[in-house]
Amino acid sequence: MFRFASMCLLGLLIAGPLPAQIPTAEYAARRDTVAAHLGDGVLLAFGAGEPMTDEADFHQLPAFQYLTGYDRVNAVFVMAVRGGRVTYQMLFEPPIDPRRALYDGFAPDSADLERRTGLGLRDRDRLREVMDGLAGRGTLWTVTDAHSRDYRSTDSLSAERYFVQRFWAAHPNVTVRSADALLDSLMVVKSPAEIALLRKAVDISVLGQIAAMKAVRPGVNEHDIFALTDYTFRMAGASGPSFRAIIGSGPNSTSYHYRANDRVMQAGEVVVMDMGALYDGYAGDVTRTVPVNGKYTADQAAIYSIVRSAQQAAADVARPGEPVGTGDKAIRAIMATELARLGLTEGPDATFDPPWADAARCERVPVVCTQAFLYMAHGPGHGIGLEVHDAGGYSYSPTGSFQLNEVFTIEPGIYISTALLDMLADTPKNRAFIARVRPVVERYNHIGIRIEDDYLVTPTGVEWLSKAPREIREIEAVMQAAAKSRRSGS
Ligand code: GLY
Ligand code: MN
Repeated sequence: MFRFASMCLLGLLIAGPLPAQIPTAEYAARRDTVAAHLGDGVLLAFGAGEPMTDEADFHQLPAFQYLTGYDRVNAVFVMAVRGGRVTYQMLFEPPIDPRRALYDGFAPDSADLERRTGLGLRDRDRLREVMDGLAGRGTLWTVTDAHSRDYRSTDSLSAERYFVQRFWAAHPNVTVRSADALLDSLMVVKSPAEIALLRKAVDISVLGQIAAMKAVRPGVNEHDIFALTDYTFRMAGASGPSFRAIIGSGPNSTSYHYRANDRVMQAGEVVVMDMGALYDGYAGDVTRTVPVNGKYTADQAAIYSIVRSAQQAAADVARPGEPVGTGDKAIRAIMATELARLGLTEGPDATFDPPWADAARCERVPVVCTQAFLYMAHGPGHGIGLEVHDAGGYSYSPTGSFQLNEVFTIEPGIYISTALLDMLADTPKNRAFIARVRPVVERYNHIGIRIEDDYLVTPTGVEWLSKAPREIREIEAVMQAAAKSRRSGS
C-alpha cells in the first residue's frame, strides 16, 4: 500500500506540468544588466571543464550558466561593453576531434544555438587572439571558475586564472578586476522563472525526505536511505542530487557534513538526513532529523524542540530589508537560554576558550566564544539557486539584508558529543566548563539535530517552501504509519 501510494505520488510529479525554462530573452536581459553595471570593459567567464573521471556528472558553473544558459564542457564566454551596452558577445568552445565526437556527441548546430542562447560560437583556439584584440577596451572583468562558492579561494583547477595570468603578462597595462561581487548581487534575487524551478527542486527534495522518513528503521544502513533519496529525486524528474546527501545516524548525527553514509542505524538513535534535489540546474536543500525507531526519546524531543523554535524565530523576523543578523541573533538567543537551562552550558552568556578564536577574535565576534556556540558552530543558512550554497541568506548575503525574491535556507542545529569537550585546550576556563557540563553532555551524547527548510522572501515576510513533515508529532505519525503498513505487509 505504502509502496503503491508513493509510486502514484512519483507518477503525479513526473506527469505534472513542468515549470517554464529560463527564456532566452531572460539570459539576454541578464547580460544587458551586467553590461549596464560594468560601463566599459571586457567580461571573461570560463564554464566548467570536462569531468576528469568517468563517474562524475557534468555541472555547469553557476555564474556561467546564469550568463549564457549554455551547458557544454570547456566553453568560454566573452562580452565587450561600451557605455553600458553590449558591443560584442560570443561563446568559445574547443574544436571537436571527429573521432572524439563519436564518443561525446557532435558540436551544436549554430542556428539552434543562436536561437537557444542568442549567442554565436567560435573555436576556442581563437580565444586568445580575440582577447588580444579587445585588450584596449578597458578593464578586464573576470568571473571565478571555482566549482563552488565555498572553494573560491582554494580551488586550484582554475583555467580562468591560468588564462588571465598569461594574458596580463602580455598586457600589463590592462586593469583586471573580479565581476564576482556584481554577479552575486544580481543572482541573489530570483526571477519568476527561477522561482518556479526552485519550487520544483524543493518539492522533489521534500519527496526525498518523505520517502526517507518512511524507510528509516533499526537495522537499515545509512547507505540504503542515501540510495533511496537519489532514486526518488531522479524518478521525480530531478537530474540528481544538488549535493552529496548526508545520512548520519547516532554518533554521525553530530558531524555536520558527514559523508560516509555506511553505518547501520540502531533503535534509540536519531538520524540527520540532509538532502537536496537538482532540477534544471536549481538546487533544493532540506534537512530532517528523525528517530530511528519512529519515536523521539524525551531527551531527543527536548533538543528537537529547541532547534525548531530557533528556526521559527528566524523565519518570523525575515522580510525584505531586514538585516540577516537579526535572524542569526534570534537563533543564538534561544540556543543560549535553552542550552543553559538543560545544563549544557554554565549560563546563557558563559564563555570558553574555543579552538577557533583567540582573545582578539572573541572581542570582535563575541558569539563564537560563547559556550552555546560550541553546540552549533555553523552558520544559520545560505541562499539556494544555481548551486546549493548560492548568494543570499545568512552566510552569503551581498547586502547584509534580505531582498524580495531571494530564496534561502534556515538550518539551525544542536550537536552534542563528548568529542566537543575532548577537543578543548586544557585552560582554567575550559577545565571549569568541562567539570560542570560533562555529566549532562554524556546524558545527551550523540544527539545531533538539524532542521533545514527553504524559504522565499515575499513582500511581507517569507513563504515556507519545503513542506515536509516537520513537527515531532507529524514525523512520528509518518514513521509509525509506515511501520504499520510494513507489519501488515501492504
Ligand atoms: N545542506 C548542507 C549545507 O548546507 O551545508
Ligand atoms: Mn544547507
